[in-house]
Amino acid sequence: MRKKIVAGNWKMNKTLQEGVQLASEVKESVAKAAVKDVTVIVCTPFIHLTEVKKTLGNGVALGAQNCAAEPKGAFTGEVSAEMVKSTGATYVIIGHSERRAYYGETDAILNKKVNLALEQGLTPIFCIGEVLQEREANIHFDVVKKQLSEGLFSLSAEQFSNVVIAYEPVWAIGTGKTATSEQAQEIHKYIRGVIAAKYGNAVADGITILYGGSCNAQNAKELFANPDVDGGLIGGASLKAADFTTIVTSF
Ligand code: PGA
Repeated sequence: MRKKIVAGNWKMNKTLQEGVQLASEVKESVAKAAVKDVTVIVCTPFIHLTEVKKTLGNGVALGAQNCAAEPKGAFTGEVSAEMVKSTGATYVIIGHSERRAYYGETDAILNKKVNLALEQGLTPIFCIGEVLQEREANIHFDVVKKQLSEGLFSLSAEQFSNVVIAYEPVWAIGTGKTATSEQAQEIHKYIRGVIAAKYGNAVADGITILYGGSCNAQNAKELFANPDVDGGLIGGASLKAADFTTIVTSF
């Protein structure tokens, strides 16, 4: 049985005080929902991590949204995987499409980040997904295959087993235009097949593959009902504790 996960990606939202407030609401509502067998994660801005960790305790896991591609040293403004780990975070989003598009993060850079995160015992949530023109040109399968192979396939099977994949079609992120349930299942199944071809069926069957992109309290149930969709990476809807908790209870 692979892990079911719902991870909130707060992006660049919430002051520290607002973030602590939201974390406290999430903790409370997730505890009240008493869901079993779902790992709930909130991925906050770096400066929130330490305080949010204190607020969350152990019921909800903590993640960062990025980490540096270098282990330490003279890299002004960067935050290393080791620093993320030292806050009590256990997950880190790597390769979000906004990082790829706005900050020039290539698969080669992301591969370095993944390695550093794994060295620290952090679980990378590695994001892949095509832009609209690629979907319209019907090359979305090739796009995600390339992102997987260049970003991750240098890992050993053991290392790879510690990665979570998030498929996020860029055209669905923050647009209110989610992938259909069929589109999600089709590409998640394809992704699992690409992983199976590289690492074998046992590894592929154990990998959690999340869907992200306008996943919300209304559509999560249908998306999560697909056999190869193991949960979601949630942006906008993770900023409201009630909506986020409804998604957590959508399996
Ligand atoms: P969204 O963002 O849920 O607001 O579309 C998802 C993400 O970017 O991870």
